[in-house]
Amino acid sequence: MNRMKTYDVPHKGLRNALSQLSLLAGKTNYSNQKEVEQLHNLGVDVFKLLTIHAADEDEVTLAELEKHCPGCSEHDMEDHKEIHASQVKLEASLLMLYNASKLNNDVTADGAEFYLSLSEFHGKYLEHTAEEERVTQPLLWKYFTDEELASHRGKIMAKNPPETLMIWFRFVIPAQSHAERVGLFTGFQKMASPEFFDKGMNVIKQVLTEVEYAELQIALCYTWS
Ligand SMILES: [Fe+2]
Repeated sequence: MNRMKTYDVPHKGLRNALSQLSLLAGKTNYSNQKEVEQLHNLGVDVFKLLTIHAADEDEVTLAELEKHCPGCSEHDMEDHKEIHASQVKLEASLLMLYNASKLNNDVTADGAEFYLSLSEFHGKYLEHTAEEERVTQPLLWKYFTDEELASHRGKIMAKNPPETLMIWFRFVIPAQSHAERVGLFTGFQKMASPEFFDKGMNVIKQVLTEVEYAELQIALCYTWS
């Protein structure tokens, strides 16, 4: 039987987000103010999602697991603390780059350091998420039914403001297969107002290929835009 995968949707999105940030940090011309600003703007969104995701796991997924299996959430929570500490440093470096660049400084040397530190962070983050999927996911399957796991996802959705969902869509939706996109957006279509659904479709139109978007439109019988 195929069980519900707790981490699949957010982790695919976060891997996409971090890869985009890494790519952009590598090709940014750090003597160009506009390019540094673009990197900063992407970084702000990516780091925001990482923070939200860690809180979602700590406050919902791991908190629920801890109730059934005391001590089982400890390792991941410790990882989150370590990741957060490295992330805070990266966020500060990015802000420093942005501010210095705005004052017309060439920040090439600091940009190279940011790129390398981001790469180290990226590596650790990938390892952490894979471990959650290999080690924590089986524990979640052991202690919860799929209905209960779905209710955890519902709690996470309810605790975050709707604008956050739009940032998630930008990174999550292109990282899914067509069938997964249809599944996610069928659910979204059921719970969202028509205006909010239009907003979501508009966001993902910018990040999917024309063919991917057209196929999704057909599958959802969606005619707007
Ligand atoms: Fe995590």
